[in-house]
Amino acid sequence: MTTPVLATGLSGLVGTRIRDLLAGRFDFEDLSLTTNINITDSSQVQEAFENSKAQVVLHMAAKTDVDACEDDKQFGEEGGAWQVNVLGTENIAFAAGNTGKRIIYISTDFVFDGTKEFYSENDKPNPVSWYGYTKFLGEQKLLESDVDVTILRISYPYRNRNNVRNDFVHRLIDVMAKDKKVYGLTDHIFTPTFIDDIAKALADFLTRNLPGIYHLVGSSSLPTIEAVKLIRDTYHLKAEIIPIDRKTYFKDRAFRPFKLALKNDKIQKLGLKMLTFKQGLKEIKIQDS
Ligand SMILES: NC(=O)c1ccc[n+]([C@@H]2O[C@H](COP(=O)([O-])OP(=O)(O)OC[C@H]3O[C@@H](n4cnc5c(N)ncnc54)[C@H](OP(=O)(O)O)[C@@H]3O)[C@@H](O)[C@H]2O)c1
Repeated sequence: MTTPVLATGLSGLVGTRIRDLLAGRFDFEDLSLTTNINITDSSQVQEAFENSKAQVVLHMAAKTDVDACEDDKQFGEEGGAWQVNVLGTENIAFAAGNTGKRIIYISTDFVFDGTKEFYSENDKPNPVSWYGYTKFLGEQKLLESDVDVTILRISYPYRNRNNVRNDFVHRLIDVMAKDKKVYGLTDHIFTPTFIDDIAKALADFLTRNLPGIYHLVGSSSLPTIEAVKLIRDTYHLKAEIIPIDRKTYFKDRAFRPFKLALKNDKIQKLGLKMLTFKQGLKEIKIQDS
């Protein structure tokens, strides 16, 4: 028998892959605008929770476009980023509290400011973008509630080619194939995460109640320019990689944290294996062909 799960964000980049990989084991009840549930509307959320037998909620819905969220900052609590990422999450916490369900919340490495060498779950968040700030407040709303909460911070998720939207890997592949050149950031360190690993880990977290914060991220942190080289070589593309610094590349765009090397030791201690970027790329290359 499949386990029922109330889920938001199933139509997104991450959510579609989670559903594809886990549909045989879990029965996902889709809470989305398509099923007439806007998570910013507390009564719609409450009604959906009351009508569901699921004991667990997987909350992935968010406003995720970092630059669009920054533009939203001027509207404060009235803006879309706040409404979905903070108010929406608060509504879910409230409804889960009323109906005795636990929550798994997908959060982000952007809760950190990127000034430390490595980040563990014990490090204090200090978001530097409006997106990161609203996601952090979402975390806070959940932790302040009386519900069992698991916060899974993911980072630069990538997957096979799909018709939902391109991840950063496929955006770079397309630029390299078309323009035969691409920029590679020299002073930006990140921790890419294979979405199939997130799905495998979620199968565990959906079955076992493991409250707390976890960095559900890949096993390698690297400068963006190194990642671009790995993508080019794995996909046998011929493109020139032009080194560029963050200041020039992100001019006039939302400020990004500089060094986002997240440690995943806590996840590994649960026996969950997370691939390095090199290993993950090999997998998606096979899936793409
Ligand atoms: N992508 C990344 O680089 C990244 C990095 C770190 C963490 N994350 C986190 O991972 C999670 C999934 O990200 P993603 O990239 O898969 O997201 P995405 O592709 O941008 O999709 C966003 C999802 O949120 C839903 N949604 C937005 N507003 C809603 C509302 N008012 N009511 C109900 N549903 C709403 C969307 O539904 P519709 O299709 O109906 O609009 C869609 O399913 C997010 O929580 C994000 O913060 C993402």
